[in-house]
Amino acid sequence: MKLSYYIAIFSLLFLPFSNVYAQDHHHGGEKGAPSLSFIEIMQGMDKNLSELSSAIMNDDFELITESAHSIAHHPSISKEDLHILFERLGNKKEGFITCDTAVHTLAIDLAMAGKEEDMVKVLESHAAMIAKATECHKNYR
Ligand code: HEM
Repeated sequence: MKLSYYIAIFSLLFLPFSNVYAQDHHHGGEKGAPSLSFIEIMQGMDKNLSELSSAIMNDDFELITESAHSIAHHPSISKEDLHILFERLGNKKEGFITCDTAVHTLAIDLAMAGKEEDMVKVLESHAAMIAKATECHKNYR
């Protein structure tokens, strides 16, 4: 059971898992890239999110796709932080994984909408992604 949690969290948080990634040219979290602390990953995603908002206001679909991709495909977490994260989560691990999966899926939807240059879909998934990430923060911060 414990092993399956490890595999699940690695897959969800730290491995690429979407079609849109294969189509994109940027691969954050790819093999060989240095792992970061949990906070560094969050701060990186925060920058991507600011970039994304600006890209939306500028109708810059390429940057929308790229920044959404970076959120979904962020660098991997360091072993130390992964250990601390699991320790702290305790029996909340499962809920954390579910919340994280939802944010990842919405970031993928957003990247796809950017690729399709569909602003309505971009706005929908952008709002949903922020709402879900905020929910994750509320429950796990
Ligand atoms: C668009 C996605 C996200 C963005 C932009 C984001 C952004 C941030 C930022 C800016 C912080 C504060 C970092 C600091 O203290 O310097 C943070 C902390 C945190 N985030 Fe996120 N986050 C996102 C998604 C998530 C998800 C999906 C989860 C969990 C399922 C999560 C869990 C946390 C937790 C637990 C902290 C507190 C860490 C600590 O203080 O040790 N975040 N996030």
